[in-house]
Amino acid sequence: MLNDEKWKVHNSKGVGRVVVTKKLPGVKWLEILARSGYRVDVSTSTDILSIGEIVSAIGDNCSGVIGQLTEVWGEELFSALEKAGGKVYSNYAVGYNNVDVGAATRHGICVGNTPGVLTETTAEMAVALTFSAARRVVEADRFTRRGKFNGWLPDIFLGELLYGKTVGVIGAGRIGTAYARMMVEGHKMNLVYYDLYRNSALEDYVAAYADFLKSRGEQPVACIRAENVEEVLQTADLVSLHPVLDETTRHLINAERLKRMKRNAILINASRGPLIDEDALVHHCRNNPDFRAGLDVFENEPELKPGLSELDNVVIVPHLGSATIWTRQSMAILAAGNVAGILMGYPAWKGENILTFLEDSPPEAAPSIVNSEDMGIPEYAG
Ligand code: DGY
Repeated sequence: MLNDEKWKVHNSKGVGRVVVTKKLPGVKWLEILARSGYRVDVSTSTDILSIGEIVSAIGDNCSGVIGQLTEVWGEELFSALEKAGGKVYSNYAVGYNNVDVGAATRHGICVGNTPGVLTETTAEMAVALTFSAARRVVEADRFTRRGKFNGWLPDIFLGELLYGKTVGVIGAGRIGTAYARMMVEGHKMNLVYYDLYRNSALEDYVAAYADFLKSRGEQPVACIRAENVEEVLQTADLVSLHPVLDETTRHLINAERLKRMKRNAILINASRGPLIDEDALVHHCRNNPDFRAGLDVFENEPELKPGLSELDNVVIVPHLGSATIWTRQSMAILAAGNVAGILMGYPAWKGENILTFLEDSPPEAAPSIVNSEDMGIPEYAG
């Protein structure tokens, strides 16, 4: 059924079969699936599998799949999974813009994701990109390695001081909020955010922090909820993007909006590449050398738009937002928990503390099923 060189089989005597389209970090996730009685077929290829390759891996007997954000999970794959007797698919990611959840539901497939274990991790990467861009770390590293450093000078690699300035956050969900707090608390930045929904918890937090600063005789910080994206772009010295990618946010940052940003502003994207019109960004960065960008994600990932890699005022890393050992192992545990949970007939977890699934005796529930209501999966009652 499978090309054995490209697939590794675990728990070969398992009754059902789970397909995993990439090797995942850690071992606990495999134990979860094996303990539930499933044989686990793991692709050992580092290439992105095509739809055809995944269909043939699913074959005619497959109960569930853990897949990747680089794969398009739509009609074709969910129909193949349904025909093979499948009941569940988990994305190995919190974002699931690569998944047609409606198609999955029509084919009777539950869809899982992995929230809550990459919030701070991804926010920290956005912070790392922020300072790399603001202080020209990558450019200066290259310069030093090339043996060009001939002694301290008053005017080489001058960057931007962020302390006390204004950070703009577009999309104040979990990761956007964590990033905002890191920049406000760590660097005493004022916050201007835009989100469809008011984030009262974040606003209260910043207000309490401002009171604390005042009580210490320091300059307080402020938080404003902007009326629209334009207000953030015009006001902020630094803008970080954290909305979900959908048809309303594709090319959220285009040529016209880039022009509204300050000449020496910094734009960070550790969310999804298509939020930015990358051609427009290349053009803008070329013509505005004091403007800087830090990108973890790309419009046509893994490809870069022509000219991007030649720009010194852009820092680029290969989609590493969640790339810490703890987070990637935890994501694997949640993805396996989603698949095993549904196959065992467990209810869906809706509680606050998803980290409980990383403990030795996790709740008998599927940690995060995004279409649980449409699929009629009852809520975990404790
Ligand atoms: C996610 O989980 O959506 C991230 O992009 C993976 O790093």
